[in-house]
Amino acid sequence: KTYDVAIVGATGAVGEAMIEILEQRDFPVGELYLLASERSAGKRISFRDKQIAVQDLANFDFSKVQIGLFSAGGSISEEYAPIAAEAGCVVIDNTSHFRRDHEIPLVVPEVNPHAAVDFHARGIIANPNCSTIQMLVALKPLHDAVGITRINVATYQAVSGTGKSAIEELAGQTARLLNGQPAESKVYPRQIAFNALPQIDSFQENGYTREEMKMVWETQKIFEDDSIAVNPTCVRVPVFHGHSEAVHIETRDKLSAVEARQLLESAPGVTVIDEREDGGYATPVTDGAGNDAVFVSRIREDISHERGLDLWVVSDNLRKGAALNSVQIAELLLRDQLIT
Ligand code: A2P
Repeated sequence: KTYDVAIVGATGAVGEAMIEILEQRDFPVGELYLLASERSAGKRISFRDKQIAVQDLANFDFSKVQIGLFSAGGSISEEYAPIAAEAGCVVIDNTSHFRRDHEIPLVVPEVNPHAAVDFHARGIIANPNCSTIQMLVALKPLHDAVGITRINVATYQAVSGTGKSAIEELAGQTARLLNGQPAESKVYPRQIAFNALPQIDSFQENGYTREEMKMVWETQKIFEDDSIAVNPTCVRVPVFHGHSEAVHIETRDKLSAVEARQLLESAPGVTVIDEREDGGYATPVTDGAGNDAVFVSRIREDISHERGLDLWVVSDNLRKGAALNSVQIAELLLRDQLIT
């Protein structure tokens, strides 16, 4: 049995990763429809042994597909996801638009697969924020074992999370600066090349940014526990692909580094790289980019807290952080026969 699938935002950074992952995982795709703005209509993109012409989202009839993978921005999802769901298509939405909606499940298949069942109310399942996904895949086995009460996290996020224009901005600024020319910033409010920006998404009234608050809200929703305290600082760094996170947790019961390592080594979706020697850890360039796993390194007991533990977590933000997680949600729906 095959399923007809539409990718909304097929020409974007996440959309391209979705096409690649559907092919790599041999997802049972019947017809694949690639949708983007009218600017891209007619552009050809290869999938398996075929060239598929991109179509204008505005004219697409969603009754032709059973699954819609959306990643064209929050306002596009706001407008088109309900139209698609109404037409009988199950929407897996990678934008932040529906994530906090109580009627819409927010799913990481390794963490809360049971939540996916509830998609029937609205026909939409939300894919969490990239930084939240990789953090929770790593924290799930530890939370199950000893209970996490508080998370302090600093992120080091790649520009590809912002989209193609940001990838071009980092490459362009780097080239210009190395040639002695001034850097122009259009996508980010400050120069990103050779720099670090402590702002991702817009500032909120409480002084945190929206990206930081997404990590708070989404962690509580996915772990189904509003008592977990989450304190994030999100930083954009001049890395093309792969987000890194320095994660500090406080647990209800004491967990040793050895026990944590054992739990992580058998956790689904996790690969431990932790050698305590020069280079014996994951980095976004060597491990994050192009791989599916969430890599965990630097597992150690916090010398400043009795029940504290430190981790370094790296993953490909376009794959596990976005496209791969969306495709895994679709696989979960098929596995549990939630779509017929
Ligand atoms: P397009 O390439 O036609 O602009 P990224 O996150 O890499 O910036 O990609 C954004 C994706 O969302 C692209 O595929 C882009 O298509 C798509 N997109 C942006 N605006 C619209 C729109 N108004 N209608 C449909 N797709 C859109």
